Amino acid sequence: MAVVAIVGGQWGDEGKGKIIDHVAEKAALVARFSGGDNAGHTVINPYGEFRLHLVPSGIFNARVTCIIGNGVAVNPAVLLKEIDDLHSHGVSTGRLFISDRAHLIMPYHTRLDALEEQTRSKGAIGTTHRGIGPAFADKTARVGIRTGDLLDKDLFRSRLSAALELKNTILTKVYQVAPLSLDEIYDQYCAFGETLAPFIRETSSMVRAAAARGEFVLLEGAQGALLDPDFGTYPYVTSSSPLAGAGCIGVGLGPREIDRVVGVFKAYNTRVGAGPMPTELTDEVGDLIRTKAHEYGATTSRPRRCGWFDAVAGRFSVQINGLSDIALTHLDIYDSFPTVKICTAYKVDGDILNTFPGDMATLEKCHPIYEELKGWQGSISDTRSFEKLPMGARQYLSRLEDLLSCPVSLVSVGPGREQVIPTEAFSTQSSGIQP
Ligand code: GDP
Ligand code: IMO
Ligand code: MG
Repeated sequence: MAVVAIVGGQWGDEGKGKIIDHVAEKAALVARFSGGDNAGHTVINPYGEFRLHLVPSGIFNARVTCIIGNGVAVNPAVLLKEIDDLHSHGVSTGRLFISDRAHLIMPYHTRLDALEEQTRSKGAIGTTHRGIGPAFADKTARVGIRTGDLLDKDLFRSRLSAALELKNTILTKVYQVAPLSLDEIYDQYCAFGETLAPFIRETSSMVRAAAARGEFVLLEGAQGALLDPDFGTYPYVTSSSPLAGAGCIGVGLGPREIDRVVGVFKAYNTRVGAGPMPTELTDEVGDLIRTKAHEYGATTSRPRRCGWFDAVAGRFSVQINGLSDIALTHLDIYDSFPTVKICTAYKVDGDILNTFPGDMATLEKCHPIYEELKGWQGSISDTRSFEKLPMGARQYLSRLEDLLSCPVSLVSVGPGREQVIPTEAFSTQSSGIQP
């Protein structure tokens, strides 16, 4: 038994929800550690089809304790809608808990997110407009309001009125829009607080206790490594860290507690929002991937930008996350491709670059150098054993393992819970995932 972090290896939407729903069958506790409702984790299982924004993807297993950790920014309106939706599908939230230290997304955060994007004009980041940047900025600036504050109405009112005074000055003086009403927000959030009170508690001790008992604990990442504020394509990034290292801080575990770090990668690359993406395909191949995989955002429905697998970015992600193994999703999308390409290096101003650059001016100039592999041209969606995968598919996986210096332990061949193939690396790495 072990603590396993499952994180996005690319620009998000790799299929984390699907992998976590699959693996959580064996888990005792699943905790989300960062992001907010900018995340959209699709889970398809016998309960139905869900796009989870805040609730951990382990919620479909009645014996799993699910925690929204202190590192998550919580919009209570979104959370309550999600809880209602789960209930209407017969899913219990009796074992769901929210950290009292998790920051709240307030109406001024969503408002400011949209206004800031408008002001950026052509330089817009393409945020999800969920208030993520402004909420994490307030956390760092020490003017945020936390879920635990909702449990003390006087404290909540005093923190809200201090914050709102400043926000209303910005709204009216900088953006010249109408101010927000203190009483309206106060009443709305007090009502949220009353409904959410049974869920809110000190959760870090629960995670540490489960780890100390040797239970199987999953740390659920949101977004992906290349959206990290430090190591991603800054400033085209999100505002909390999606890296495995943040898994400790985001739930209250020490770094020595994490036994295994699984990076979820798609067999190709996608990105939603602005910012450089060296392997982006703006031709019919990119369109084909988007159509076959239905690559539209789970949160915003925006079309995702699609491209070949970028092994330079992938290697970087393996390193900064300290990945022990990879769950590779969407391999089925290549079923009809006669050949598939992998970017193995970049060409910049005539030089070869094997590492992912930190400055965007260089990344913008990177031209991918491709290696072309033969495809397999046959459906693998119903394949459940590694040995039965066509040779072309196995060769593709093996080449990715070489280029990333990391074993692939799970292969996903469709969106459904059962469409997963463990590889040989899975059995040698299985301490974390098997009971
Ligand atoms: P997440 O944010 O990482 O959880 O990923 P999203 O849910 O935003 O996007 C992944 C999409 O791919 C969802 O529509 C999933 O249902 C779907 N999906 C996940 N794994 C696979 C797979 O192996 N094959 C196919 N075809 N679809 C998959
Ligand atoms: P999951 O967990 C893909 C992107 C946005 C934008 C940038 C900043 O489903 O993988 P933000 O709203 O966070 O300020 O937007 O980050 N982004 C995601 N892209 N998947 C996500 O989450 C994302 N969360 C944020 O599109 O480019
Ligand atoms: Mg998503």
